[in-house]
Amino acid sequence: MNKEIKKMKKGKYMKRLFSGIQPSGTIHIGNYFGAISNWIKLLDKYDCIFCIVDYHAITIPYDKELMQKRIFDAAVDNISAGLDPEKCKIFVQSHVSEHTELAWILSCFTRMGELSRMTQYKQKSEQHKAHANCGLFTYPILMTADIAIYKGEVVPVGEDQIQHVELAREIIRNFNTAFDDILPEPSEILSPTPRIMGLDADNKMSKSLNNHISLTETDEDLWKKLAPAKTDTNRQRLKDPGDPAKCNLFSYHKLVSSDAELKQVIEGCTTASMGCFDCKKILCKNFSELMGPIRDKKEKLMKEKDYVLNVLNESASKCRKIAKETISEIKGAMGL
Ligand code: AMP
Ligand code: TRP
Repeated sequence: MNKEIKKMKKGKYMKRLFSGIQPSGTIHIGNYFGAISNWIKLLDKYDCIFCIVDYHAITIPYDKELMQKRIFDAAVDNISAGLDPEKCKIFVQSHVSEHTELAWILSCFTRMGELSRMTQYKQKSEQHKAHANCGLFTYPILMTADIAIYKGEVVPVGEDQIQHVELAREIIRNFNTAFDDILPEPSEILSPTPRIMGLDADNKMSKSLNNHISLTETDEDLWKKLAPAKTDTNRQRLKDPGDPAKCNLFSYHKLVSSDAELKQVIEGCTTASMGCFDCKKILCKNFSELMGPIRDKKEKLMKEKDYVLNVLNESASKCRKIAKETISEIKGAMGL
């Protein structure tokens, strides 16, 4: 039995939760409602580890000068959104080298056919044709190693990552079959809103498609994005009634508006007694109310660089300890 540190709460063993986020600039409401809001809810229930996955971020072209800022911003955004460093570990992937060591080992238990079936691989290698590289192909192996190095049991992610967690289970099963049952098979946990569409209403919200609303948008920028945003195309004029089910912005209303407001906009839209402008104003107000405290916390943390770096360093050192135990157990089992 491995000596690995396991957290107890009220005398009960807490399952370990692991998730990751890329340092790709600003966090958007897709990340928030698809994953982060769920992470926050689970902080007291699991032994939580969150990772800023810089090694995953280098699988597509990136700006070297911006990397450290993006990592720092990702930490600040996540803490501001509610990841309390007192209740979890938040660290940078490349600071714990055992992730990549285990990725190599697990690559020997991964079938190439499985990797080539991954939707994200197909999309990204098409999007970055000139840069399609092995890292993009083996991305899910590193993700599996991220989880397995901490013996993660639950993995809260958005819908786009389910396929990767399924493959992680398979890779881990292959490993466990060949050696002792050392690694738990992880399960994904989805938020009630696992897929948030972008402002274009056609694609999932994503920074790279520039169809996103940042979690710390100013009120002015928020309105600049919402004012021209697509609604139900049947509402050409004010007197044309619409169908909220066909309006992308109504899906946003469901994230932040009260039941009374939802009733008001459904009534207003279907009877054409409320125009899209007024409907967007309500949405803008509610997003702003969500973002206000997050923006304030971010502004404060941006001035507390040492505190943030200290959280990352301390978490990395705790993670390193767990990771070293797991890798030595794995090597022992493999006769290495
Ligand atoms: P990423 O920024 O790609 O590292 O994603 C971080 C987390 O946010 C992952 O769990 C994703 O599945 C989730 N996520 C990203 N975009 C969306 C979206 N548009 N809707 C729901 N979840 C998302
Ligand atoms: N691939 C995930 C994403 O793009 C990020 C990630 C890396 C991750 N390692 C992970 C998520 C391990 C969950 C578990 O969103």
